[in-house]
Amino acid sequence: MGIQITPSILNADFAALGDEVARIPNADWVHVDVMDNHFVPNLTFGPTMVEALRARTDVPLDAHLMIDDPDREAMAYVEAGCSSVTFHVEAAAAPVRLARELRSHGARASMALKPATPVEPYEDLLPELDMLLLMTVEPGFGGQKFLDLVLPKIKQARALMDKHGVETWLQVDGGISLDTIERCAEAGADVFVAGSAVFSADDPDAMVGALRRAAESVG
Ligand code: DX5
Ligand code: ZN
Repeated sequence: MGIQITPSILNADFAALGDEVARIPNADWVHVDVMDNHFVPNLTFGPTMVEALRARTDVPLDAHLMIDDPDREAMAYVEAGCSSVTFHVEAAAAPVRLARELRSHGARASMALKPATPVEPYEDLLPELDMLLLMTVEPGFGGQKFLDLVLPKIKQARALMDKHGVETWLQVDGGISLDTIERCAEAGADVFVAGSAVFSADDPDAMVGALRRAAESVG
């Protein structure tokens, strides 16, 4: 599939999200950060808002659920029009069942790991997943500093994917910018979330292109 750039709207203008997503036509996905003030100490929006956003862009939606009880809540985001849904393994009661349920309803199934959660225990789950998200900040807020300590885990995850011969995408999220994207690409990531880097740029769509070129320059 190659390199994909998925801007997060967390740092966009929440009072004008329809206009904000129209500013990034060259994004591969729009990354929507759902927070419940329990799994993370921040609150964003739910499926109704996501459904409204879906009507305002042709770019597919990539939901990142930072919520408790994704087993019960995740399907609402498929119904709201998300083509990819990511749940956190730290919150899921039955990740295999949940991934299969997402896939059976036509969505891409994705699982996220916080920075301190190791990847090896989940090696056997990789064939069940369309994407693995490795957080490169503690989830909850945009604009945080990239955690270099996650780089070895990115390499490890890529090696496990190669070992199993799976097509699982490897997404990184948190502190991704022109300063950090190349080291993530070098480590093996191929899907890049960028929030503040894109929406604090004068031309967000040009930043999407610049990030893509930087990641593609690593080879
Ligand atoms: C953080 C969110 C991220 C966030 C990224 O918990 O999951 O998607 O919006 O923002 P930046 O790119 O500013 O770190
Ligand atoms: Zn996110």
